Amino acid sequence: MKSVATVVLAAGKGTRMKSGLIKVLHPVAGLPMIAWPVAAAREAGSDPIVLVIGHQASAVQGLFRGATDIRCAMQEEQLGTGHAVACTADALAGFRGTVLILCGDTPLLRPETVKNMLAYHRDNMAAITVLTALMDDPFGYGRVVRDESGGVTRIVEQQDATPEEREIREINSGIYCMDSDFLFGNIKGISNDNAQGEYYVTDLLAIAVRKGLTCLALPIADADEIMGVNDRVQLAEAARILRGRINRDHMLNGVTLIDPDQTYIDHGVTIGADTTIHPGCRIDGGSIIGSGCEIDGAVSITDCRIGDDCHIKAASVLESSELGEDVTIGPMAHLRPGSVLGNKVKIGNFVETKKIVMGEGSKASHLTYLGDAEIGRNVNIGCGTITCNYDGVKKHRTVIGDEVFVGSDVQLVAPVTIGRNSLIAAGTTVTIDVPPDSLALSRIPQVNKEGWRLRKKT
Ligand code: UD1
Ligand code: CA
Repeated sequence: MKSVATVVLAAGKGTRMKSGLIKVLHPVAGLPMIAWPVAAAREAGSDPIVLVIGHQASAVQGLFRGATDIRCAMQEEQLGTGHAVACTADALAGFRGTVLILCGDTPLLRPETVKNMLAYHRDNMAAITVLTALMDDPFGYGRVVRDESGGVTRIVEQQDATPEEREIREINSGIYCMDSDFLFGNIKGISNDNAQGEYYVTDLLAIAVRKGLTCLALPIADADEIMGVNDRVQLAEAARILRGRINRDHMLNGVTLIDPDQTYIDHGVTIGADTTIHPGCRIDGGSIIGSGCEIDGAVSITDCRIGDDCHIKAASVLESSELGEDVTIGPMAHLRPGSVLGNKVKIGNFVETKKIVMGEGSKASHLTYLGDAEIGRNVNIGCGTITCNYDGVKKHRTVIGDEVFVGSDVQLVAPVTIGRNSLIAAGTTVTIDVPPDSLALSRIPQVNKEGWRLRKKT
């Protein structure tokens, strides 16, 4: 196979986003926008991938730090798409083959489309192939001008087009395949003598035609794919379309989404068959969810591993946590990072956990805070239990052995250890270690003042 290099144009600021963050770094369905075309190029077998960067260059570079296939080309001043491509000459010195040119702001382009385009370009031994689309409203795009026999002659920008040319509905997607010799042999020859005073990469088409080289336009079936994101309205639209694709894949893999339009699953999430997800859920951070799970409405799951047959009840928030099988969470529970829960654990209403390990079959059913704790198997944590893990300076651990029963309204002042099979009486404040098989009880004796209330009333 002939080698393929990709150029991704991403030097612009994206002024219409009205953001402190450059456009191509805005997340779309869980990935920074630019990561989508980069992924499409990779999947199509391209190496290297050259990013043309300018605004916030170091942030874009940081995103791909350590990726051996990524190179960056600096474009200090944005003088146009032709100038941007010319900036990759050094990064691609010595490369020969097909150069795929993509834009950093088209996250919807599918890898299959890129593969098809590359094959079409190669099969026809073209010097240049442009991906086009038919648009009902082509305003703003470059138009593809064809001759009487249908051959492409050039691309004309909106600002430079005659009224007749503006009637053309076939638009330039800004995505091209070019032969590297043709590209770098001619890119320096384009001028900026046009309405915008910019160097247009599109001028290369007319140059190829003039030189008698093969110049092709490949219309795309689904015009959505080449939609460029310029503002937040288009950002939301692109995210909606990407989510639709992600959700469709999950559904085809056996996941039930009660209302796919209101289910927000990011790129990179794995979900087992026969799991049901109710509306308003957000699942991201590369979470892995088992099969046969039930995820109720308005649940948020970030960076978690969840075993089979778990039930996550409504409005729970799960962050960087690990759940075994048959675990029940919520409603309205909060698993903060580092919560590792064994099989059949139950975490109920208004329970918050952080950095805990909880053994199989243990339960904390109501209104509890468990932080920095190691909890054994079959432990019952009563309502209102608090691990007092923080002394204002340091965090301390609580260790609870297997089969311990912690009554309601107990404070465990860490560091403290409770031996296996002990019972902590309701209302106890535990400040010293409890040996195994014991009863711990700290209560102020109750006083009943008979007749007290009666006297007060008179
Ligand atoms: C370009 C095409 C137009 C096409 C449209 C598709 C040209 C002259 N026109 O127009 O025919 O219909 O894309 O969306 O190519 N960029 C740089 N450096 C620059 C200029 C641009 O990196 O100096 C990057 C931008 O950040 C952006 C991409 O190139 O990612 C496209 O640039 P933009 O100015 O948006 O091109 P359009 O005017 O939309
Ligand atoms: Ca523009």
